[in-house]
Amino acid sequence: MASNALRSLSRAVDACRQCELWERATQAVIGEGPVPARIILVGEQPGDQEDRAGRPFVGPAGRVLDRALQAAGIDRETAFVTNIVRHFRWRPSPDGKRRLHDRPNARQVRACRPWLLEELELVQPEVTVLMGATAAQGVLGSDVHVTRDRGRPMASETGSTILITVHPSAILRVRDRTEREAAFQALVADLTIARRLLETADRPARPSPRATDDRVSSRR
Ligand code: URA
Repeated sequence: MASNALRSLSRAVDACRQCELWERATQAVIGEGPVPARIILVGEQPGDQEDRAGRPFVGPAGRVLDRALQAAGIDRETAFVTNIVRHFRWRPSPDGKRRLHDRPNARQVRACRPWLLEELELVQPEVTVLMGATAAQGVLGSDVHVTRDRGRPMASETGSTILITVHPSAILRVRDRTEREAAFQALVADLTIARRLLETADRPARPSPRATDDRVSSRR
């Protein structure tokens, strides 16, 4: 039943023409994982490898995510992993040999957001982890700032506790080794908070104003 729902969602997303990103992508990439799942992790958009494989977080950022989940005590197999944008936005490298990541713009994120709402409806997560600014602002609005708001559980009227953290690819961009390790440990610390939320069902008492955004709650 759930896998049927995911299969038909996948077909619908692949046929989506609400923005132009489909034109240069290999395929749409929808979320992957159990349905329902207690936790959903939301990234930005498929990268080069995800675009080819048709699966989320299977490239370098996915490997960082796998390590961070493991260190935080979360089994990736129990999580639903997805993105807010479903087609790879890219530009050619100067020598034309590689496809370089290009951040999706606000219009493209808006066009794609209904697919995330459909996944949330299917997955019914208790905890929603938004990884990076594109996912966080795409769900909660532009006044969210990852560095300020990360690691702070927010109740939402949907019933899912929202937690913001950095995108795993941000770790890969840190040049200095010591700083990179510190950034990785900070990601692990945020994911550990997510794991504890699942263990203790310890929810904030009141919805924060930001998390009551009707774009999030419109799914119920
Ligand atoms: N980055 C993302 O945000 N999502 C992926 O699936 C891969 C890289």
